[in-house]
Amino acid sequence: MDARSLIELESRRAARNYAPLDVVLAKGEGCWVEDVEGRRYLDCLSAYGAVNQGHCHPRILKALVEQASRLTLTSRAFRNDRFAPLCRKLGDLLGFDRVLLMNTGAEAVETAIKAARKWGYTKKGIPEGRAEILVFEGNFHGRTTTIVGFSSDPESREGFGPFAPGFTALPFGDLEAVEAAFAARGPGIAAVLVEPIQGEAGVILPPDDFLPGIRALCDTHRALLICDEIQSGLGRAGSMAASLGSGVRPDALTIGKALSGGFYPVSAFLADEEVMEVFGPGTHGSTYGGNPLASAIAEAALDVLVDEDLCGNSRAMGAQLHEGILALRSPKVAEIRAAGLWIGLDLEPSAGTARAACEELARHGVLAKDTHGRTIRLAPPLVAGPEEIDFALSALSKVL
Ligand SMILES: Cc1ncc(COP(=O)(O)O)c(C=O)c1O
Repeated sequence: MDARSLIELESRRAARNYAPLDVVLAKGEGCWVEDVEGRRYLDCLSAYGAVNQGHCHPRILKALVEQASRLTLTSRAFRNDRFAPLCRKLGDLLGFDRVLLMNTGAEAVETAIKAARKWGYTKKGIPEGRAEILVFEGNFHGRTTTIVGFSSDPESREGFGPFAPGFTALPFGDLEAVEAAFAARGPGIAAVLVEPIQGEAGVILPPDDFLPGIRALCDTHRALLICDEIQSGLGRAGSMAASLGSGVRPDALTIGKALSGGFYPVSAFLADEEVMEVFGPGTHGSTYGGNPLASAIAEAALDVLVDEDLCGNSRAMGAQLHEGILALRSPKVAEIRAAGLWIGLDLEPSAGTARAACEELARHGVLAKDTHGRTIRLAPPLVAGPEEIDFALSALSKVL
């Protein structure tokens, strides 16, 4: 079917819960994707950071094919030979004792919330049903009813209540607000759940003292610091985890997306024994969580990140892209924020919408995603080289 027919079919038969650009993709390799009519585009979204290793990476593909013809799913009712080695590799890479595997990012965050609450009751002594978790305005942690209940985005939240209690949203980057919350209600606070860099909000970086300050407050008041690194982690911001890269070790981490290099939904909650031991048999799980196919894919995806030094490349190519955009000196750009190969670019109000700019970028062969009206998010696969960055800059120079 051609693009027009596919778009028309989608508009008639699919739920309208997304508003994609009118590009119908059929192939991908490395940083490049191709539509059904054979037009090539540089992917500057990487499926929201899930394809950090590039599309259809041959090493991950090989692991998938080999494992898919051997054993795919056992459930955790039985053991499989791929699960434990992945837990060790992932735990060693990020520096945590234990790993709990799930599928989507939202499930990893739900796991973190359950762990924080149970830790609060069983270890900190918070009275049952009273645990509070501090979160931040502008957050994006997924789409479950619990998670959207503490979103500050009306589209994500409105009409889906009633919501779970126990979350307090504070301004992102405002350490004094966190301090005040602890001063007022410290004994009942089980955890602070934070994206070290807010991705969906538009690559928002907090002040340098924010995460270290939260770390210190969590230590003083005995609460868990849980970093959601589902988008910021695995190389995107230039290190395996943005928190660890900035010298802060959280008590627990969530990761997903690039954990499978775009092949399969794999997510994880990582923590040390003191936290993870709140989960005993029967307390949490998922039929597909930790299945052998997911585990084989994730191991290969991690090997690619390490062996190809994608963190280093993220920093190098990110610097080239950032400096290149600054050098354009475009009057349409109001602000630009960068962390590794991850850029949030705010347009001036007079420059039109970010959506219109992304449509224009697509006409010049670059796929990027608008967010919150005026922000363009750029996140090419971390295998991008200098030529790809130049290609992106050339399209940006035409549009900006
Ligand atoms: C920081 C963060 N957490 C959680 C999620 C949810 O992940 P998923 O869409 O796989 O459920 C996302 C997705 O964009 C995210 O950016």
